[in-house]
Amino acid sequence: MSADFEIASPLPGAAFGATVRLKTPLARQIPGGLPDVLADAGGLLLIPGLQEIADKPELLVDLSRAFGPEVEDYRYTLTSATSVHAQVPEIFLVSNIAPVNRAPPKRPEPPLTADGKFPVQYPQRKGWHTDQSYRRPPPDISLFYAVTPVARERGQTLFANGTLAYQALPADLKARVEGLEGLHAQPGTGRSRDAILSGYTPPDQPPQARSQRQPVVRTHPVTGRPALYLCESGQMDWYDGPFVGLEPGPHGEGAALLDALMTHLTRPEFVYVHEWTVGDVLVWDNRCLVHAATWYDADTEQRMMWRTTVRGNPGAIYAGEARSWVPKELVQDRI
Ligand SMILES: [Fe+2]
Repeated sequence: MSADFEIASPLPGAAFGATVRLKTPLARQIPGGLPDVLADAGGLLLIPGLQEIADKPELLVDLSRAFGPEVEDYRYTLTSATSVHAQVPEIFLVSNIAPVNRAPPKRPEPPLTADGKFPVQYPQRKGWHTDQSYRRPPPDISLFYAVTPVARERGQTLFANGTLAYQALPADLKARVEGLEGLHAQPGTGRSRDAILSGYTPPDQPPQARSQRQPVVRTHPVTGRPALYLCESGQMDWYDGPFVGLEPGPHGEGAALLDALMTHLTRPEFVYVHEWTVGDVLVWDNRCLVHAATWYDADTEQRMMWRTTVRGNPGAIYAGEARSWVPKELVQDRI
């Protein structure tokens, strides 16, 4: 136990994660030692009761800085201005409210599993991804703050643990993914599974928006543990990928392997379902977890969530790399 907080682990109903209750308001003290707690918990922390952030949003940035050397400033990283907080540009807005107008994901079809449960596993549940994997180097950690969550049993965030999934991977799949690279696509570049299945031929992109290679088995730079590092439908490249060196396209050998890996990675025993309460902060490690959003009724409910992104320790394989997503003129001007 720390002088600054109390820890309870794992998260309810999950095999990983921890709840961290702070003893002192953030405005008085940003607690130390949280990165170690995050690593010990397998990459997911719930910090409840932080309603003070709603009135003082810069506290979310201060808390984010406790997890890494750089908090992304969305003014300089090709992010739509309508999704950036007007006063605190390190905060990305995830909301169906204008001017953000981001629609929630679709409901799974069918909406429940065959035995009547809330579906978490791919392919019934879609939208699994790790943040900004279409960039090299990819980010380390995201923080997500509930300003206005929607009612329970919808608008959840789901997490699947890539470390546990890799450990449990059958030997034949483990052999197939060794040394393999995935090709991760920026959403909106016309390379999603649905786009390619519809017959669309995507245009080439400027260098800062091109799909990026990432290891399928990523070694965590802090814990040294291997984890599956993958996305699916909307954030892999289904035209040239989804894997480098395997038959491309939505009907190819690569697609079949990705379906098998995502189905394994999102098995219910590797998943945590978070029901949001006002004032919750979730901190997740993108290097070893994937996550997915769920449906809510955007016609009757309004949701406002704030996200920050922490970067700076992606691991040795990215050492010395220029940022794939930042055009050279911006590097000279801003970074
Ligand atoms: Fe995300």
